[in-house]
Amino acid sequence: MWGGRFAAGPDAIMEAINASIGFDRRMAAQDIAGSRAHAAMLAAAGIVSDSDAEAMREGLLTVLSEIESGEFNFSTALEDIHMNVEARLKEVIGAPAGRLHTGRSRNDQVATDFKLWVRDQLDAVDGALQALMRALVSQAEAGADWVMPGFTHLQTAQPVTWGHHMMAYVEMFGRDLGRVRDARVRMNECPLGAAALAGTSFPIDREMTARDLGFDRPSANSLDAVSDRDFALEFLSAASICAMHLSRMAEELVIWSSAQFRFVTLSDRFSTGSSIMPQKKNPDAAELIRAKIGRIFGANVALMTVMKGLPLAYSKDMQEDKEQVFDAADNLMLALAAMEGMVKDMSANRESLEAAAGSGFSTATDLADWLVRVLDMPFRDAHHVTGALVAMAEGKGVDLPDLSLADMQSVHSDITGDIFDVLGVHNSVASRTSYGGTAPVRVREQAARWKEILG
Ligand code: ARG
Repeated sequence: MWGGRFAAGPDAIMEAINASIGFDRRMAAQDIAGSRAHAAMLAAAGIVSDSDAEAMREGLLTVLSEIESGEFNFSTALEDIHMNVEARLKEVIGAPAGRLHTGRSRNDQVATDFKLWVRDQLDAVDGALQALMRALVSQAEAGADWVMPGFTHLQTAQPVTWGHHMMAYVEMFGRDLGRVRDARVRMNECPLGAAALAGTSFPIDREMTARDLGFDRPSANSLDAVSDRDFALEFLSAASICAMHLSRMAEELVIWSSAQFRFVTLSDRFSTGSSIMPQKKNPDAAELIRAKIGRIFGANVALMTVMKGLPLAYSKDMQEDKEQVFDAADNLMLALAAMEGMVKDMSANRESLEAAAGSGFSTATDLADWLVRVLDMPFRDAHHVTGALVAMAEGKGVDLPDLSLADMQSVHSDITGDIFDVLGVHNSVASRTSYGGTAPVRVREQAARWKEILG
């Protein structure tokens, strides 16, 4: 492609470090879409003849079908997908292929291809997130009034509902969805026509190619257009935050499915056995989701590091953007699908959840609130009295509802039998009706709201 200037071919090591065809072939469809749009524009602008443009556009479809059917011969000597496609086009249609690269460069070409690829991924992640959220909403609806312990410091805190816990993740994934959508809006400017770095003297129509490729507008600065990879970084950042959420949930599933917790039973379809311990049913999918997140964070840091300190405009460093994004995208999609499958299939063990909800003095706050409400005690005093009751229960080896009224009155004489009403876990969750609270009525409202949003 640059034989005019060169007398010798590249060293084998040069070829090995330089070539990107091993991975950027994943952008073949995007490359061909970009080239077809460019060819049509060249003809419309009178830069090439209609017949040449038609030959290019048809020939590019032939090349695409060869790639899709697996018969295409990728060449490392041709470095990347852009030159592989163009060289094959030359074989298929002959001379007109030589006019395709008029008014563009591989620099704007690769930026365009990669943006199109990332944009497709944002849409795929959008769909996968919605599917996962629907599965969580179903779990929430089924168990809107099932009680379980809510934790802080992984110590029993207050009873919450299963539905509320599921809906907490819906909120998180909902924000992830928002980030994905924001990124898509911001990235949707077309680099094509920025050429190598400075634009071109050919009378190209950048509005036309932008429109053809589904972009909102052409990018406004040619130097920026070929240098920008923040669209990929935004994808990786959004992916990292989403992955972080997935890993928290995965960790909970690992804990919850243990024999010590028994909060959930994961389906056989999403578990594995042990080759030596016959009783084992391992939450491998959850563990792998938890672990895969490392690669996604890694990709984010790697690309940030590649880009930092790069002078404008294009440098070959930027070829290192793609594998990171491809790997992160693949693993995020896999993790989302696996989580959706696990959530759909898992069954919450209502009895275990309820038994655990009542243990660990989980209604101590309800007791303190009762002292405030009924006896008009300042909360700090109520906290102290409740603490004494918890210590008494602990000493007797019982839970709060098991103390007798006489026990209670020995700590504070004004306590009446009504107090036992607030010590039950169902009353406890039902009472927390503040907006965003764990009461089943609130959970059902939120589930309905999200169902409407998710359609
Ligand atoms: N394979 C290259 C990449 O992925 C394409 C752009 C090459 N541009 C250049 N000036 N050498 O970045």
